Amino acid sequence: MKRFNWLLLLSLLVFACSDVNTNLLHTVSNGRMLYEEHCANCHQSNGSGLAQLIPPLNRADYLVNYPQQIPCIIKFGMDSAIKVNEQVYHLKMPSNPQLTDKDIYYITQFVLYNFTDSHAIINDSEVALQLKNCGK
Ligand code: HEC
Repeated sequence: MKRFNWLLLLSLLVFACSDVNTNLLHTVSNGRMLYEEHCANCHQSNGSGLAQLIPPLNRADYLVNYPQQIPCIIKFGMDSAIKVNEQVYHLKMPSNPQLTDKDIYYITQFVLYNFTDSHAIINDSEVALQLKNCGK
């Protein structure tokens, strides 16, 4: 009887974890597609950026220091000099008014998961809240 309960608990745990993983995979693969369409021509598919013109995303200290800014940067673009990995950038990044909050959530999750060592996991309501407070 005892053994049966452990087995039940274990299978519930495995089930719960695989559900989280499936959602994450779904989000990251949507994000990857949107990234290819809207970001990769500048930041490159591998997130390397472009020389001294376009800042990198891959292993960028900016993402680690300001993860909560990513959704607003995607939505409204960016137009001020910034330093990323010790290099200064000052070209303008265009806004993306065509993207929905959900799209921005997918892209943000892809960027954090793919380009940072912490592989941070976020949820869509967090991103929606950050989008509401952009510039505040
Ligand atoms: C037309 C080129 C271009 C496109 C397209 C573009 N960016 Fe940028 N991005 C830039 C530039 C240039 C900067 C630096 C802006 C500045 O200095 O104010 C930047 C800055 C950033 C930053 C902050 C700095 C860093 O390297 O961490 C993030 C995050 C970012 N972009 C993410 C994205 C994402 C995600 C997309 C797609 C939705 C995207 N960008 C599309 C050119 C672009």
